[in-house]
Formats: sequence, C-alpha cells, structure tokens
Amino acid sequence: MTPYAKKAVFPGSFDPFTNGHLDILKRALRIFDYVTIGVLANSSKQPLFTVEERVAIIQQVCVELPGVSVRSFSGLLVDFARAEKCDIIVRGLRAISDYDYEAQMALINRRLGESIETCFLVAREEYSYVSSTLIKQIANLRGDVAQFVPPAVARALAEKFG
Ligand code: PNS
Repeated sequence: MTPYAKKAVFPGSFDPFTNGHLDILKRALRIFDYVTIGVLANSSKQPLFTVEERVAIIQQVCVELPGVSVRSFSGLLVDFARAEKCDIIVRGLRAISDYDYEAQMALINRRLGESIETCFLVAREEYSYVSSTLIKQIANLRGDVAQFVPPAVARALAEKFG
C-alpha cells in the first residue's frame, strides 16, 4: 500500500458544482479519509463563475463533510496531485458516453505520472443526465435548478443571473 492510499484528489471545472458531483464526492469519502477537490483555474472554456467563486461555493457545500478540502489548481493535474501528496484521482462516470474521454485522460495521466491511479465512481442513475452546462442553461432561462444542485449553488446561480 502506498503512503497516500487514503487520500484522493477529485478534480474538475465545477462550473458549477452539481448534485452529481456531490454524490461522487460522498462516495469517495466512503473509500478515502481525505478528499481534496481540485478546481481547475485555467480552463480553455470561459467559465460562468471565477475560480475563487467556485472554490467559495464548494466550500459552503462541503462545510459539514469532514475530510474535504477545496483548492484551485492550474497546470497539469498530475502536478497538482503530487503537490497534494496524493496519487489517486477520483472521477465520476455518469453514463457509458463519459467513458472514452475519461479513459483517455486516465491513460494520459498515467503516462505523465506513473504512480497516479484513476478511480472511477459511478453516479446515481438520477444524476446521469445532470451536467454543469445544462444547469447553466436552465438557470440562464430562469428555470428551477433546485433539484439539480446544492442550495448554495442555486443561490449563486440566482445571483449571477439576477
Ligand atoms: O469537469 P471537467 O471539465 O470534465 O474536468 C476536466 C479536468 C479538470 C479534470 C481536466 O481538464 C484536467 O485535468 N485539466 C488539467 C490539465 C491536465 O492535466 N491535462 C492533461 C490530462 S487530461
């Protein structure tokens, strides 16, 4: 067993953090004692929320979850994981359509950092169609997103879209 086996990094854009992400995080906490949520700062996509906003919102969501820390990162995920003294990456799979992209990332990350292992967790079926992109679209059109995101995220979306 590696010295870091009880700690995992859960990376993503989280723009915004959804109930699907929360489901994966809670599943990860059943396996790992500590999970660091890594919020990507330098995404090629133009995010709705700044990285500081995303970190602050996720911190609110996770305030009662022991063992969770939230940090932003830029650059390579494997470098972030190393800096966190962690060699396990957790990613969620919603549906089989996620698999190709996720497997590609896992294999690239393994080439970039040989000791890095990716652990896939499967989200609840009811979250299989929830994506951050659709949530933003619904919120922008004044739809109700309360059933798809934690309350702190719903509040932040309401503020963002006035
Ligand atoms: O929530 P997302 O947008 O699907 O998350 C993608 C993320 C952040 C995990 C991925 O883009 C990433 O790891 N970016 C950091 C840059 C990197 O390490 N690239 C090489 C491996 S794909």
